[in-house]
Amino acid sequence: MKKIVIALDGYSSCGKSTTAKLVAAELNYAYIDTGAMYRAVTLYFLQNHVSRTNPKEIKEALKNIEVEFHYNPKKKRNEVYLNGLNVEDEIRKMYISNQVSEVSVIAEVRHAMVAEQQRMGRKRGVVMDGRDIGTAVFPDAEVKIFMTADVDMRAKRRQVELLEKNQLVNLDEIKENLQKRDRIDSTRAESPLRRAEDAVLLDTTHMTIDEQVEFVLEHVTAHL
Ligand code: C5P
Repeated sequence: MKKIVIALDGYSSCGKSTTAKLVAAELNYAYIDTGAMYRAVTLYFLQNHVSRTNPKEIKEALKNIEVEFHYNPKKKRNEVYLNGLNVEDEIRKMYISNQVSEVSVIAEVRHAMVAEQQRMGRKRGVVMDGRDIGTAVFPDAEVKIFMTADVDMRAKRRQVELLEKNQLVNLDEIKENLQKRDRIDSTRAESPLRRAEDAVLLDTTHMTIDEQVEFVLEHVTAHL
C-alpha cells in the first residue's frame, strides 16, 4: 500500500505525541518526535556551555551531536539517545522545557534538525509531530493536522504526564512555560509555528485520545 507522510503540528501539550504514537502503531509507520530532537540539542548545549550567539561555536557543537531513536521493548516505546546515551527521561524535565524554545530559534540548529528529519522521512511511511513539519520539513505531506487546545486544559494534561514521571510541578509554572514556548515558537524568524494553509484544524480541548486518533486516521484513509 502507498506510504505517506503524516504531519502533526501545533501548540505545546495538545496531545500531539500521544496521538502520533498511536496513529503510527495503527499504520505500522515510524513515529518521529521532533520535539525530542530539539530537547536533546538543548541538553547538549547546556551540558557543554555552548554559546547561543556565536555561529562558529554553534556549528562546531552541531557537528558533535548525534541524536537517535532506539526502541525499548520493555517500555514498548522509542527512546532518545544523545551521542549514544539514553536521555529520554532527562530531556522531559522542566529545566529543559524552560530552555528548549530559546535553543530552537537558532537558525543553524533548525537547519540541521530539519535536514535530519527530512532524511528520516525520505522513504515516507512516517508520522512526525512538531511545530514546522507541514510548513518546512514536509510541505508535501499528504496529511497535515494542526492541533490546538485550551491552555488550562493543556497545562492540566501536562501536569498529569509529569506526575506519572514522578515530577511534581505547580500548575501555574506549567501554564507559564507552555505560553512562553508557544510565543517564542510562533514568533521566531526561522520556520515558526503556524498552521499550514492546507492543514486541517483539530481542537482537542474536549476530545479523548481515541477520538483524536480516529480523526487523524479518517484523514489518512482518504489519502490511501
Ligand atoms: O514537542 P515538544 O513540546 O517536546 O517540543 C519542545 C520544543 O521544541 C518546542 O516548544 C519548540 O521550541 C521546539 N520544537 C521546534 N520544532 C519542532 C519541534 C519542537 O521548534 N518541529
